[in-house]
Amino acid sequence: MSAVIALPRLMRIGAGASGELASTLAAFGLKRPLIVSDRYLVSVGHVDRLVADLQSAGITGTRVFSDTVPDPTVASIEAGVAFANEADHDCVVGFGGGSPLDSAKAIAVLSRFGGRMRDYMVPHVQDAPGLPVIAIPTTAGTGSEATRFTIITDETTSEKMLCVGLAYLPLAALVDYELTLTMPRRLTADTGIDSLTHAIEAYVSKRANPFSDGMALQAMRAIAPNLRVVDREPDNRPAREAMMLGATQAGIAFSNASVALVHGMSRPIGAYFHVPHGLSNAMLLPTVTAYSAPGALKRYAQCAVAMGVAGEDEGDQSAVARLLDELRALNADLDVPTPAKYGIGREAWDKVLDSMAEQALASGSPGNNPLVPSAEEIKALYNQAYA
Ligand SMILES: [Fe+2]
Repeated sequence: MSAVIALPRLMRIGAGASGELASTLAAFGLKRPLIVSDRYLVSVGHVDRLVADLQSAGITGTRVFSDTVPDPTVASIEAGVAFANEADHDCVVGFGGGSPLDSAKAIAVLSRFGGRMRDYMVPHVQDAPGLPVIAIPTTAGTGSEATRFTIITDETTSEKMLCVGLAYLPLAALVDYELTLTMPRRLTADTGIDSLTHAIEAYVSKRANPFSDGMALQAMRAIAPNLRVVDREPDNRPAREAMMLGATQAGIAFSNASVALVHGMSRPIGAYFHVPHGLSNAMLLPTVTAYSAPGALKRYAQCAVAMGVAGEDEGDQSAVARLLDELRALNADLDVPTPAKYGIGREAWDKVLDSMAEQALASGSPGNNPLVPSAEEIKALYNQAYA
């Protein structure tokens, strides 16, 4: 059986890559960009710098939409589409963390094809291209710069809608770790664990393939030894560089395999309780890994080796035990709370437990897990992670 591999057509990776937007647009003959970003990046002057760079390269028709929101909502995307359609843009530049990048992708598709966001959620597959997207991530990271996915929240039903297809895969990605040097501690930890989760889930996924495996293992090797370093030493450049590269490689890995049960269960927690995406993954990762490990013991053991917590010739069972120890220790070291400690009340949790399990299953992600749980088992896992 063959694997379908899709990648951005161009990636610039390394210090200063984000300064190459004008030449990247020129390489593809693009002249009228819409920049999709957020208010924070406007307030610190990063967006102005991007626009000034373009201006000095003779690209003058740039417009900026900065009203994206964390966990982008349907309303925020509709506002972006209306703004995009006020002018004749020929591309969308997503600039920011996962939320601006995911917003840029959705705006790029809806501004060309119209319709409602819900029409585009799985099982729909949107391969026909909208406006081309150039992604400039500022976190390490969701990997969105290299994936064929976007996730938009339906705020009327509290559902995170997964949208897939080649239309969401950026044409180009400018991956510049220098943009992450000023990331706050919590964001650094949460997005870093998200990346690690992408790599692990891609590697144990039923849809893993030799190409995604290579990317996933490299990502784990880059991320695992550096997560605590960037937490303690935010301006450690080699560690930031490794995390950024690892995040992009992990994005490539899961875009060409899949994520699995952690992400399937994490999205409803984010949608109902507004827990940042990486943090809700982290809350679930040790529990879900312990549940899933018997379904792919060797694969999880290889994750432990790639992460540097088990030896090459260690038995699988022992390596997986070390992996679980490490995931729990990471959560402790990075101050990841349980849902209860995060402040989610027992009553509120119980009230949506059925819906969370339903939404997790409906996303399709649990179907790629080494062990596929029933709704009852998913609820039990939620409760195990809760306390
Ligand atoms: Fe993720």
